[in-house]
Amino acid sequence: MAASIKRDGECLDEMDSMREISSQFFEMVPVRKMKWKDEEAALLVTRPELQLQLLMATVKHPVCCSFPPALSYMRSFMKLLIHKLETEDADICDEMYEAYTDLLSCNEDDDETLCFKSYKMLSGEYISLQESVHLVSQGTTGLSTWQAAQHLAEWILENPQVLTNKSVTELGSGLGLTGIVACKYCQIQNYAFTDCHAQVLYLLSKNIEQNVLIDLHCKTESDSSDRDRKILRKIRKQLSLSSDQQSSEENSSDVNEISEPSDQGYMREEITIDDGIYSDPVELDVNGNLWDVDSSHRLATLKGDKRISICHLDWECVKGRILEKLKSDIILAADVVYDTSIIPALVFVLKSLLDTGPDSNRRPKAFIASTIRNEDTRDAFLIAMGSEGLNYTVVESPKHHRFHYDRSVPIEILQISAL
Ligand SMILES: C[S@@+](CC[C@H](N)C(=O)[O-])C[C@H]1O[C@@H](n2cnc3c(N)ncnc32)[C@H](O)[C@@H]1O
Repeated sequence: MAASIKRDGECLDEMDSMREISSQFFEMVPVRKMKWKDEEAALLVTRPELQLQLLMATVKHPVCCSFPPALSYMRSFMKLLIHKLETEDADICDEMYEAYTDLLSCNEDDDETLCFKSYKMLSGEYISLQESVHLVSQGTTGLSTWQAAQHLAEWILENPQVLTNKSVTELGSGLGLTGIVACKYCQIQNYAFTDCHAQVLYLLSKNIEQNVLIDLHCKTESDSSDRDRKILRKIRKQLSLSSDQQSSEENSSDVNEISEPSDQGYMREEITIDDGIYSDPVELDVNGNLWDVDSSHRLATLKGDKRISICHLDWECVKGRILEKLKSDIILAADVVYDTSIIPALVFVLKSLLDTGPDSNRRPKAFIASTIRNEDTRDAFLIAMGSEGLNYTVVESPKHHRFHYDRSVPIEILQISAL
């Protein structure tokens, strides 16, 4: 049975503390921002066996072996942990030092461009997403998971009935956290993930395969093709190139201001890809063993779960035919309102999707989660919606904090519909 310690009359369960540290580790919460309860540090100090448990819940956990966070992150985590223990003059178990030296002796190679972030669900299972270690890379913000996606996922988990038996289209899906949560934990009718960026769409397809097909037991070793390995190698290489070449550029995106590290610019220029992979940036490059790609090469349906599709959709050059296919009961989007220059195109797509849905008796609704980094950008979005005849209400924020994102900047979810 788990022991507990007293704090201000309430019981703090050791296992809860351990889970809390472990969840932050797997989400790669920056080590300096990790929330350690004082008691947790004390527990680790006084109870060496808990040090072992903590290792098993983090760097030695099976999820860490299969879907490792960035090597530099794991090293920083272990360094901090050992520092905490040394500061307290604690008896540190050998395994702690061994785990740290093992990490120090790992080959760094190109591992520092892509990593896995794993989001622990209430059921205990993890959603593991392959992400870039940089918030902005390869000319897109879509290669990492943003706070608004986590916020919208939390809201969906508290309001699953909104998606019950509904067709859903997500705009600017990025790496797919919101949609994967919806597909796994809601009774959706179907779900179309959309984005405009070739590499984002490719990693999104991998993340869906990893997290959705694993449930269906229909993924085999051979599904991970040589081509997949080649593409991933290529993405890694490009990400490491782009992190070397990042330059600051003037633009209308708020994301610039919050990118970490602060000297990262928002690159609009793509780095040329030289071997034919992504030679046509609008074509979907997905694993043909797992996805049925339509004749336009812009829409692919997951063979193992035909409710799920991925679509190349660029709000700035939409084709009516694609919009027709994407008509849904519910439109979702997270962190797509950050650049005033693309707001008109985004609102045009929203308006087209909200005017009529697949069922004339049901008016489509959109739920858009935005991090309010800049009031002017928010206002520009609201004004653009008003002039297109879209109205909105602010929905209640999720009550439970399941994920560990930065909550210092407000996030708002708008419910939007056509007048
Ligand atoms: C800040 S990211 C948010 C990604 C994801 N929803 C999240 O919150 O983690 C913005 C997303 O919008 C996509 N996006 C930007 N401009 C777009 C456009 N013109 N058409 C379609 N998607 C676009 C990007 O590729 C990126 O995935």
